[in-house]
Amino acid sequence: MTSLAATRYDARTIALHWTVALLVVAQWASGHTIDWFAKGPPRVDARAVHVVLGSLLALALAWRVVWRASGGRRLAQAKTLDALVSQAMHLTLYAVLIVVVGLGVFNEMLRGDDMFGFGHLPKWGTWDKDARHLLSNRVTTWHGLGATLILILAGLHASAALIHHYFLRDGVLKRMLPRGQ
Ligand code: HEM
Ligand code: HEM
Repeated sequence: MTSLAATRYDARTIALHWTVALLVVAQWASGHTIDWFAKGPPRVDARAVHVVLGSLLALALAWRVVWRASGGRRLAQAKTLDALVSQAMHLTLYAVLIVVVGLGVFNEMLRGDDMFGFGHLPKWGTWDKDARHLLSNRVTTWHGLGATLILILAGLHASAALIHHYFLRDGVLKRMLPRGQ
């Protein structure tokens, strides 16, 4: 099998890939456990943790997209069906990530949650309380469904990377691992 491991992604692309991957899993877990906390300050703080980590994720994702489109290293892709499917998966992952993070940010602009007792984030728009609540619930539903879709796609994507590593042994995984791995 020809090796595609002649080179690796640059250090920033690799760092941003794993930062985004880690934050996505943390966000999925944190989003689904907010309601485990007692009503009142514990739940408000659990939600604030989700919003703060989500904002870091939004920044990392934006940086990654800009870096990918400008200075980020591009590697040779094999001209096979497998490589085409993998590139389509990467594009889909980027698209779904942007939508889910966008819905999260939009939801927060509707809700204006309290941040650890330091004050509320500003609310955006002119909806009355009930309309705002209804819209926020709908956005939460789509945000949650999108979050699960990301996890399924990322699971397939990670499985493909592991199959390349352990069965095809073509070095694709190493392209995305830090030096020395
Ligand atoms: C890929 C990144 C993210 C994932 C995987 C994720 C995941 C989730 C999940 C699973 C839920 C629960 C949905 C439900 O109850 O049906 C949730 C709720 C929520 N997320 Fe995210 N989230 C992400 C990013 C963000 C961002 C960037 C923000 C805002 C800055 C955000 C704000 C919220 C808010 C306000 C809720 C509603 C909380 C509640 O109803 O108590 N999320 N998220
Ligand atoms: C939530 C988790 C993850 C997300 C959202 C994600 C997303 C992505 C995206 C969007 C790319 C395309 C990079 C680009 O060309 O700009 C990529 C590449 C890559 N990812 Fe992930 N990833 C995740 C987890 C993982 C895991 C767990 C592994 C390994 C087990 C992995 C291995 C790779 C590899 C090897 C590449 C480079 C593939 C190539 O050069 O063709 N990813 N990932």
